[in-house]
Amino acid sequence: MAKPAPYASTLAADAARVTELAAIASYAGIGRGDEKAADQLAVDAMRTALNALDIDGKIVIGEGERDEAPMLYIGEKVGTGKGPAIDIALDPLEGTTLTAKAMANALCVLSMSPGGGMLHAPDTYMDKIAIGPGFAPGTVDLDMKPQDNVRSLASAKGVKPSDITVCVMDRPRHADLIAALREVGAKVVLITDGDVAGVIHTAEPETGIDLYLGSGGAPEGVLAASALKCVGGHFQGRLIFRNDDERARAAKTGVTDLDRKYDLHELVSKDAIFAATGVTKGAMLDGVKVADGFVSTHTLVMDSSTRTVQRIRTTRPL
Ligand code: FBP
Repeated sequence: MAKPAPYASTLAADAARVTELAAIASYAGIGRGDEKAADQLAVDAMRTALNALDIDGKIVIGEGERDEAPMLYIGEKVGTGKGPAIDIALDPLEGTTLTAKAMANALCVLSMSPGGGMLHAPDTYMDKIAIGPGFAPGTVDLDMKPQDNVRSLASAKGVKPSDITVCVMDRPRHADLIAALREVGAKVVLITDGDVAGVIHTAEPETGIDLYLGSGGAPEGVLAASALKCVGGHFQGRLIFRNDDERARAAKTGVTDLDRKYDLHELVSKDAIFAATGVTKGAMLDGVKVADGFVSTHTLVMDSSTRTVQRIRTTRPL
């Protein structure tokens, strides 16, 4: 049996509690039409919960740079400072619009890794491709045409391209991608937001999603990669820069090769713990429920050092 990494014994439970408390706080923002307020609820709760942990934590992917985010900014130290050095990537509320509009699939998400274990992704876009576990490296590739990725994955699965289901964010920038996927006969599942879950779906056979393709936030790319690392999936990402400001952001985070195609193990080079708690009910997790003075949460926690996946249902008095 795989041995847990020394830092991991209680950290998975700690990570789960942090996302649970953030999701419970976010509940008050569901359906209120105010994305910023919903995000702030999650940020405050996540920060308080992180600061209670015995870790020497550092936010490497957070709410933004110090001058633009008052809390959970990149470089902020969290925890009591007494425990192991841990890098933290987080998106306190992945799906601010989903929450504000009371739509499905909003999550509170974080990933923890020993210091230096994750790419400090700048707040830019990233081109992403992902499939679940069990395929040879190179089965799909960011540099292959979408049609060829579908054909190659279909052949690896022993099915027809028309049996392949691809998850893509519903954005005008993906019009050509979606047309190419339909041309080869693939089924395209469009999501309005939340590509961390979109990527993870490739490793969840019950979702029916075989492949994830398209661009979204780079921070979300690292979070999704850390989740797939825990289950043995495949992920590649390449940063996209639209202007000099974004290139300057990359330079600040230490990214020098702007065209580099990152493999999952370059995005997340050390072991990682991934935790996500549902805010609104989604394909991956149930949302927060409040009834009779109790609040219930549904959390996914994964640990790459042991390849363990837990789904935890917790009920607490309000
Ligand atoms: P936030 O809720 O954290 O803002 O992110 C939602 C999200 O849908 C991400 O999942 C995705 O990576 C990104 O936004 C896509 O950005 P855009 O809406 O600009 O296409």
